[in-house]
Amino acid sequence: MHQEDLFKKLTAHCKEYGFIFQSSEIYDGLSAVYDYGQYGAELKNNIVKYWWDAMVLLNDNIVGIDSAIFMHPSVWKASGHVDAFNDPLIDNKDSKKRYRADVLIEEYIDKLEEKISKEVKKAAKRYGDKFDETMFRQTNKRVLDNIELIDSVKKRFIEASEKGDLEGIRQIIIDCKIADPESGSRNWTDVRQFNLMFETRLGSVSEDASKIYLRPETAQGIFVNFMNVQKSGRMKLPFGIAQVGKAFRNEIVARQFIFRMREFEQMEMQFFVRPGNEHEWYEYWKEKRMKWYKALGFDENKFRFHDHVKLAHYAKAAADIEFAFPFGFKEVEGIHSRTDYDLGQHQKFCGRKLQYFDTELNKSYVPYVVETSIGLDRMFLTLLAAAWDEEKIEKDNGAQDQRIVLRLPPSLAPVKLAVFPLVRKDGLPEISQKIRDDLRFDISCQYEEKDSIGRRYRRQDAIGTPFCITVDHQTKEDETVTLRYRDTMKQERVPAGKLREILGEKVSMKKLLQTL
Ligand code: GAP
Repeated sequence: MHQEDLFKKLTAHCKEYGFIFQSSEIYDGLSAVYDYGQYGAELKNNIVKYWWDAMVLLNDNIVGIDSAIFMHPSVWKASGHVDAFNDPLIDNKDSKKRYRADVLIEEYIDKLEEKISKEVKKAAKRYGDKFDETMFRQTNKRVLDNIELIDSVKKRFIEASEKGDLEGIRQIIIDCKIADPESGSRNWTDVRQFNLMFETRLGSVSEDASKIYLRPETAQGIFVNFMNVQKSGRMKLPFGIAQVGKAFRNEIVARQFIFRMREFEQMEMQFFVRPGNEHEWYEYWKEKRMKWYKALGFDENKFRFHDHVKLAHYAKAAADIEFAFPFGFKEVEGIHSRTDYDLGQHQKFCGRKLQYFDTELNKSYVPYVVETSIGLDRMFLTLLAAAWDEEKIEKDNGAQDQRIVLRLPPSLAPVKLAVFPLVRKDGLPEISQKIRDDLRFDISCQYEEKDSIGRRYRRQDAIGTPFCITVDHQTKEDETVTLRYRDTMKQERVPAGKLREILGEKVSMKKLLQTL
C-alpha cells in the first residue's frame, strides 16, 4: 500500500474507533489540536506507565515530579527561550504557503542522501557478491558529488544559523533551487524569525497583569526544582528527575496529524552528572532509550539514530531516535547533552547558588545534564503506525476477507480482554459478566454482547485487544470458555477459572519491563 494512503487510513481509523478526535470538531476544529477518545486515553496512559516505570520504578537514582505549566517569566528569559526559541519561517509568494526554512533545507539534504542510497543499492544489485560498498562510496563520481554537496550545504547552514544570518539561510534555499513542495514555485520571501511560545496574562486587572508563557517544554520545571529535589531527597550525583506533562508551541507548520501539534505532551528526564562524565552518560542514555523502543517487539529496522546537524542553543551533542512513519523517518525522541547551560543560566538570573557539593571531590559545582525527551503523542503515533496491519483472511465459507488489526504489545493495548456471551439469553450474559467482574481488577476487560461473534472479533482487532473469550452453552456444563488470540486468530478451550493465570503474565507490564 502507498504510504500516504496508509497514513490517511490510520487517521480515519483513529476517529472511527475512538482513539483521537479533532479538538472542538463541532465548531469545525482547532488547527493542530486534538482530543484523545475512550481508547486513545487508555493507550496514552499505558504508554506513560511504560515510560514512567522504565525511568522511575526501575532506577533507584531517578525520581519523578509534576511541576506547574505556568512558571515565572524569568525562567524563559534565563533558559533562552524568549530570545532564541524561534523558527526561521519563509513564505512562498505564489502559493502563499508558509514553511520552516530549516526544514526545507533538511528535506533537501534528506533527498540527496536518498539519491546516494539508491546509487549504492543499484550497484549492490549489479555487482552481487563482489560489491564493496566502502570502495564504491569512496570512488563513485555521482556519490562523491552528492556527499560534497551535502557537506557544503550543512556547513553553510550551520554557519548561517550560528550567526543568526537569515539572508544566508534564504540564499541556501535559492542556490539549491529548493521549490515549494506543494506548488513547485521558487518565488520566496525573506526569512523571518518567529517565536514559538504562547503568551498569556496572569492577574485579573489588565494593568496589574504580567505576561507569562505556556511552557514550551517540561524540562525547565525540572531545572528550577533541582535544589528542592536534591536536598529533600538527599540525592547523590548522578541522579535523574523525570516528569510527564503538557507543553505548548505555536508551530508554524502544524501538519501530519498528531506528529506536530500546538498542545502536546512530553515525557522528559534530566540526568544530572559530574562535569566531564557527560559524554559517557550521553552514550548510556542513547542506548538505554533505544532499547526501550526495541523491547516493544516491532521491526527493529524501523528505529534509528539521527545526529543533529544544527544544535539547539543549549546543547553540546544531540541525537534523535527516529521512527519510519508513513511519511518517512522522523524524530520521536531527542537525547541531548545540555552541559551546565540551564542550571548555570538560572543561577545567574535568580541570584542563588544552584550547585551540588561533591563529597568525593570536596567541592561544589553546577552539574552537567543529559536529557531524554520523548513526545507522548509522537510515541502514540509510532505505536499505531508500527502496530497497524491489514490482513487478508479466509472466511469460514472459504471466501476472501480482510481485517484491520492493531498488533499492539498486549501490555499497552487499551483493552486486554473482551468477554462475549455467544447469545444474549440462556444465562450466558450473566456468566460472562461474572467472569468480567472477577478479572477486571487485574486485567482491563470489556464486555460486549451486540452483533455476531465475528463482528465483535473485528471490532476488538481494530482496537488492538489481544485476547477475547466467548461464553457458550458448554460453559454452563464444564465452566470452560473459548479463548481467541488476536494475532493468530487461533482459538482454544480453557477453564474460565484459569484465565487469570493464563493471561495475567501475557498482559502485564512487568514482563515488558523485565526485558529492559
Ligand atoms: N526539552 C527538550 C525538548 O523539548 P525537543 O526536541 O524540542 O526537545 C522533544 O522536543 C520531543 O517533544 C520531540 O522529540 C517530540 O517527540 C516532541 N515534540 C516537540 N514538538 C512537538 C510538537 N509540536 N508536537 C508533538 N510533539 C512534539
